[in-house]
Amino acid sequence: MGRVALVTGGSRGIGAAISVALKAAGHTVAASYAGNDEAAAKFTAETGIKTYKWDVADYEASKAGIAQVEADLGPVEIVVANAGITRDAPFHKMTPEQWKAVIDTNLTGVFNTIHPVWPGMRERKFGRIVVISSINGQKGQFAQVNYAATKAGDLGIVKSLAQEGARAGITANAVCPGYIGTDMVMAVPEKVREGIIAQIPAGRLGEPEEIARCVAFLVADDAGFINGSTISANGAQFFV
Ligand code: CAA
Repeated sequence: MGRVALVTGGSRGIGAAISVALKAAGHTVAASYAGNDEAAAKFTAETGIKTYKWDVADYEASKAGIAQVEADLGPVEIVVANAGITRDAPFHKMTPEQWKAVIDTNLTGVFNTIHPVWPGMRERKFGRIVVISSINGQKGQFAQVNYAATKAGDLGIVKSLAQEGARAGITANAVCPGYIGTDMVMAVPEKVREGIIAQIPAGRLGEPEEIARCVAFLVADDAGFINGSTISANGAQFFV
């Protein structure tokens, strides 16, 4: 059954692949983005998927943006909290600003994305929530105290929401991507990236579509008993 889906950070990288996969699965998709107007316009032109601009770190902006999506497309029944940033630095060099930026976007941003749609999902007795966490929330990562904290926090969010939503027909699950060939990973210095790839048994970075595949599976109508789980897709780099 086609439903209305919101994908935050949905016009680039992993989020774009998720938006496209959910559209292909018959859903009506809204993709939010924070700043890159050019990429968003190109994405809409190529895919026909509507984009909306707001900062997930801002609760009021998220609420207003989601209200606009619902006015345009109808009640949001599927939410993919995907928007995320990195501000990598070894801990002794990490600034409070780097800590706060990542917490605000990757962790508070997940709250800001889910909280406005939660009452409607409870009323309608249906919801599908997927949070895009990371392998680095599972294993930690040098220079990512901030990012790893948020991605581990995401797992706590879905495990708690799963318990709260279960009787209301709402599921909440996480996907933990490993290193995927997106702008975020390409921003890592080349030598460091080569070292990372050497640690991936698959011998390569993942493709955004390989993460989107997990999300499409989790948001399906017949995935109602899969709740509070984490799917890892990391080329065998790390096992929980
Ligand atoms: N483990 C142990 N030591 C490491 C290391 C690692 N993984 N990476 C770097 N180091 C060491 C270096 O060898 C160097 O040591 P020396 O001083 O003895 O030579 C030191 O740490 C780095 O010191 P610098 O002063 O050069 O560090 P810097 O302030 O320039 O920061 C960096 C460099 C930001 C850490 C850079 O190396 C970097 O970006 N690393 C990648 C971090 C990473 O993997 N991020 C993941 C991004 S992808 C993502 O987040 C998506 C996802 O979900 C998977």
